[in-house]
Amino acid sequence: MNWSDEHVSSDIQEVQAALRGSGRLPRHVAAIMDGNGRWAQMRSMPRIEGHRAGMESVRSVVRACSQLGIGYLTLYAFSIENWKRPAPEVRFLMSLLEMYLRKELDELHENNVRIRTIGKTNALPKNVSRVLQRAIEKTAENDGLTLTLALSYGSRWDIQRAMQVIALDVRRGKLSPEDLTEETVSAYLQTSYMPDPDLIIRTSGELRLSNFLLWEAAYAELYVTEKLWPDFHANELYHALTEFTQRERRFGKTSAQLSDTETPKPSTLERLRNALK
Ligand code: IPE
Ligand code: IPE
Ligand code: MG
Repeated sequence: MNWSDEHVSSDIQEVQAALRGSGRLPRHVAAIMDGNGRWAQMRSMPRIEGHRAGMESVRSVVRACSQLGIGYLTLYAFSIENWKRPAPEVRFLMSLLEMYLRKELDELHENNVRIRTIGKTNALPKNVSRVLQRAIEKTAENDGLTLTLALSYGSRWDIQRAMQVIALDVRRGKLSPEDLTEETVSAYLQTSYMPDPDLIIRTSGELRLSNFLLWEAAYAELYVTEKLWPDFHANELYHALTEFTQRERRFGKTSAQLSDTETPKPSTLERLRNALK
C-alpha cells in the first residue's frame, strides 16, 4: 500500500500539517525502543510477546516519519550487549527481525524507504544477514526516508573500530594525524551517511543512552517517555515531535544570539496541542 493514499483522519492531517508547517521538524529522529519485556510481563505474558507487539509500533512510527517527510529514522533494535540475553529470547528477536524484513520489504520499497543498517552485523545469523542484504540492495536507490536498523550495535564498538581503521590509514600514509578533524572521525563511523540525530527518543522511562550514538548525540535533544515501546505509536511520536519543535537549541550560544528561525513559535504549539487532544 502506498502510504500517501492511506486514509488519515482529519485530526491527524491537522497535526501533520502543523508539524510540517512549523518548519522545525528534525531531520533525523533516533529511537531507543525499550520496555517490550515489561509490557508483556505486565500482562502476564512471556517477554517475547512484548517484542512481537513492538513490531506494530515500528510499523506505525516508520509510516508516520515517512508521511511527515522526515529524512532519517534510526531504530535501536538490538544492542551488542543484548547478545548476553537468554538464547531463546535472542533467537526469537532474530526470527522477528527476519519476519519483519520479509513481510514489510515490498511496502517499504513501494514507499520509497531506503533501508540501511549499523552495527556488528557479521554477528547476525546467516538467514537474517541474507534478508537484510536483500532489503538494503533492493532499496538502495530510494530517496525517501532512510530507515536505519541498529543491529548488534554498540557505539563504543563503532568508535573503537573507526579508531582502528584511522590508525591503519595513518600507517599506510593515507591520512596524516594533523589532518584528523571531528569531520574525519565522523566519516570513519558507520553512521557517516546520516546527519547527527536531532532528536533521540527513549521509551520506558530509562534515563540512559545504553551505548547508542554516543559521538553523534553530542547535541541531540533527548525525549524520554514512560510509555513502553509497544504502546508508542504515531500519536506518541507526534507528541515527541511537538515538544521538539518547542525546544530552543542553542548549540552553546545564548538565547539572544539565535536568529528568528531558530526560536520556537508557541503558536504552533497551541495548534498542535489542540489537534492532539
Ligand atoms: C527492548 O525491550 C527491546 C530490546 C532490547 C531488544 P526490552 O526487551 O529491553 O524490554 P524491558 O526493558 O526488559 O522491559
Ligand atoms: C537498549 O535497551 C537497547 C535496545 C533498545 C535495543 P536495553 O534494555 O538493552 O538497555 P539497558 O540494558 O536497560 O540499558
Ligand atoms: Mg530494556
